[in-house]
Amino acid sequence: MGRMNPIGCNAAGLVTMLAAGLRSASCVRSILTCAILSLSAAGWEAYVPAQEANPSTAHSAKQLAHPSSAQLADPKIEARVDRLLSQMTLEEKIGQLVQYNDTGEAALAPATPAQPDAGKPGAIAAINPETANHVNVMQLAATGRLGSMLNTIGAQRTNTYQHLAVEQSRLHIPLLFGADVIHGFRTIYPVPLGLAASFDPELVVALSHMAAEEATTAGIRWFYSPMVDISRDPRWGRSTEGAGEDPYLGAAMARAYIGGYQGNDLSKPGSVAASVKHFAAYGAAEAGREYNTTDMSEITLRQVYLPPYKAAVEAGAATVMSAFNALNGVPSSANPFLLTKILRGEWGFNGFVVSDYTAVKELINHGIALDAATATRKAITSGVDVDMMSHFYDTQLPELIRSGSVPMDVVDEAVRRVLRVKFATGLFERPYTEGVEVTAAVAEHRTLVRKAAEESFILLQNDRLAGGAPLLPLSPERKRIALIGPLADDAGEMVGAWSGGGKASDVVTLRQALEERAQQVGGVLLYAKGTAIDDRSQAGFPEAVKAANDADAVILALGESNAMSGEGGSRTSLDLPGNQQQLLEAVAAAGKPAVLLLFSGRPLVLNWAAQHIPAIMEVWFPGTEAGHALADILFGDVSPSGKLPMSFPRAAGQEPLYYNQFPTGRPPAGIDLSKPPIGDARYVSRYIDLPNSALFPFGYGLSYSEFSYRGVKASKTSIPLPQALANRGTPLLEVTATVTNTGTRAATEVVQCYVRNLGASIEQPMRSLKGFERVTLAPGESKPVSFPLGFNELSFYGLESTPTIEATHYTVWIGGSSLASQEATFEVVSSTQMHSGPR
Ligand code: BGC
Repeated sequence: MGRMNPIGCNAAGLVTMLAAGLRSASCVRSILTCAILSLSAAGWEAYVPAQEANPSTAHSAKQLAHPSSAQLADPKIEARVDRLLSQMTLEEKIGQLVQYNDTGEAALAPATPAQPDAGKPGAIAAINPETANHVNVMQLAATGRLGSMLNTIGAQRTNTYQHLAVEQSRLHIPLLFGADVIHGFRTIYPVPLGLAASFDPELVVALSHMAAEEATTAGIRWFYSPMVDISRDPRWGRSTEGAGEDPYLGAAMARAYIGGYQGNDLSKPGSVAASVKHFAAYGAAEAGREYNTTDMSEITLRQVYLPPYKAAVEAGAATVMSAFNALNGVPSSANPFLLTKILRGEWGFNGFVVSDYTAVKELINHGIALDAATATRKAITSGVDVDMMSHFYDTQLPELIRSGSVPMDVVDEAVRRVLRVKFATGLFERPYTEGVEVTAAVAEHRTLVRKAAEESFILLQNDRLAGGAPLLPLSPERKRIALIGPLADDAGEMVGAWSGGGKASDVVTLRQALEERAQQVGGVLLYAKGTAIDDRSQAGFPEAVKAANDADAVILALGESNAMSGEGGSRTSLDLPGNQQQLLEAVAAAGKPAVLLLFSGRPLVLNWAAQHIPAIMEVWFPGTEAGHALADILFGDVSPSGKLPMSFPRAAGQEPLYYNQFPTGRPPAGIDLSKPPIGDARYVSRYIDLPNSALFPFGYGLSYSEFSYRGVKASKTSIPLPQALANRGTPLLEVTATVTNTGTRAATEVVQCYVRNLGASIEQPMRSLKGFERVTLAPGESKPVSFPLGFNELSFYGLESTPTIEATHYTVWIGGSSLASQEATFEVVSSTQMHSGPR
């Protein structure tokens, strides 16, 4: 099963597990609730400051000059929204802004004077565990006081609720069912960080469409995905849910997810509305600690963190989720700068914003609201349309509107945004599930998720052995293989941190796949678990060492459990957990050629392994077809092509470590950073105990073949500044190179293009990714590659926080990683320079 969310219910959890998972977690929530209640009991006065945000409807779709989604801006939809809105009572309007979990059976919810129907026999009631308010969700649905639900899994379940909403409620407005389908619904593909390693947006489109098709058969029409938070610090467990450290790659992946989920028509069967999350800069949590505050300049926000969200919104994302974290002191879920100025004002977003889980209530913990009423007012006037699970909008808004603290316009606008998405998704026409519900991994989808897993693996090291050949792919002569480690045969772990409705029973483990192979080729598989993922016992070591001694080659399947990353999965250590390092050393001492397969949701520290283990491959959590995909690569049916979407550090103390760092006034140029400093070698930007560099940097990854680059060239050596500034839509120049497969087998290389801008009025990163392309080449084959560079690629954010270009120098590199060394240069010249020649 996948990981549990903060209330203890599995993210896209199966109803059967909800009841069991809920109780303990609801205790945690009850504690929070108690804390809040005790604050009020202690006599804290409600603090009602002057209204912070202008709650006007200035950004309603009707007035948006450039609405982000053409479909949501359709006048026919707007007319339907107008008609419906004009018939709604205040209670029904607020209902559209309310979202509850499907939390289980009636037995958990005793009747109270406030909710007399809660415990009625036969009713399926749900408890809102956050507030200990007993809420009969079925009754809310039937009376038009509920707009959407999360974690309602299964066609029977969603249809039950939908029938109540559509057939019994006065205005027959359907519910929208949302779920955390993050990397597959039933057929599971690699975690998003692994998918990013593929540098293959087309693959991501296909996978996300596949997940949408599966999930809609169960009534899910809204995914809380993609998570596009940039993460430069692997201590943050949610790094696994995003595309890693780079804004350009992150934006490409963001667009791909939206394309796959929504297609070009939200109402098409098999499409779902996406929720881009978590807006904004949640991934910059200080010290990598979950939910921690973030603090950054507006330039960094706009240049590094916002591009993926912006790309998703421009691709037509129907909804956005506001984040838990505070940004520069203002919680994202009550942040008019983010939600109104940037999202709606600058980007023309015309869908709706949903808060993250209980984020409205958490405004009290953030210390910017002393009571529920203030938290509600701040959230809704800042631009949060739907309240996920705080139970504040439904309890607080009636009085806030009556007293005039929240203008009716604000509520109308929020409801309008929700209805717009409901009309666009075709829910009014097709509210119920159609076709046969997908309840298990789909056989026809296995090929695609197997390919995805293969593309997500990154070969980090593949040393040549004494005989001269690299250890991988494993030679067919190695008939006796020892398979060792806690991740070798654990189906449940393979589905990753957000398994959706993925079942362990559908997973092919590495052990199963290697056994199949061994039978086919007359080989022998010697399996020994060795140790558990996070254990101290060495009882299994002797068996593992014996297996290694008896084998021709050893495969070690080590790493993290899937619960060690994902939400609430921050770690201070980036080492192998438990005693796996000791197991690795004990097995390596057997002296047999060894391959380390690293299963993890984040970069780990691999210094010892890099020195002692000839072949290392990062394999993340590969999904349903884990074993087959791994076997395909290990035995060379497919050559690895993944590249790192996050840098692998030498020590956790280097974090945050990312390739697109800024320069300093004291670069350690020409100094051997592997040695402690002597004399002036100390007074440069460095550590005294380790090099600055990553052990394996962003963009890095080996293949079974080799590639060379030549002829890196810019199509222009100089571009007039006026042209660079005026020309927004088309490329200003092209940078080209020739890539050759110099090895002996066909393989795919991810060609990358990096740019540095020198001489600008604001310091720019040492290099930034501005293009990439997957190129498949036969042995000896060459291909030209070309990267168009235009305003988007060459501009930077100036002090006014708008993108600009200045008369500066540019260096461009094309190669196979962020260390690419072949370069070309060009410059942007001002009118004066144009007349007097280059500087
Ligand atoms: C997570 C979101 C998720 C939501 C609903 C929250 O705890 O931060 O990413 O979509 O729960 O399950």
